Amino acid sequence: MFARASLVAVTVIALFCVHTFAQSQPLSQVCLGCICEVSSGCNTTIGCSGAVCGPFGITWEYWTDAGKPTLNNEQLSDNAYPKCVNDPYCAAAAVQNYMNKFGRDCTGNGVVDCEDYLRIHRLGANGCNGALNSKYENRFKLCLRTFQNQ
Ligand SMILES: *[C@@H]1O[C@H](CO)[C@@H](O)[C@H](O)[C@H]1NC(C)=O
Repeated sequence: MFARASLVAVTVIALFCVHTFAQSQPLSQVCLGCICEVSSGCNTTIGCSGAVCGPFGITWEYWTDAGKPTLNNEQLSDNAYPKCVNDPYCAAAAVQNYMNKFGRDCTGNGVVDCEDYLRIHRLGANGCNGALNSKYENRFKLCLRTFQNQ
């Protein structure tokens, strides 16, 4: 009886973890790295300019849609947005959250892959099948080819 109950509990916990993991980290490290690379050269000291901040070039609206992650899980404060998105790990968490929410197959190839994430990052979920700047797109594809076998 106890063994059976604990087996069920373990299974539920395992499924929950798989689910949570899949939900929270849809982008690979290579994919994140290449989005960072094309957004700013992955410059972690780039700061804010105009409406975008940090190595991933994240706006306040994007960060808000991503659920307002904060650096080291601090309480929300007036500077929570720039503090998070200027930090590569917090910014990457914002990207993961954003893609959990808006990830979809923009290119129509039947899978949600890194190109889709880049397109959503750059163009938004609604316009993500639109045209990317060709220099930007080439740089991204070169990055992916360099860091993963495809
Ligand atoms: C990163 O951005 C800052 C601010 O724009 C600039 O001063 C610095 O040279 C950049 N670093 C690299 C490695 O490009």
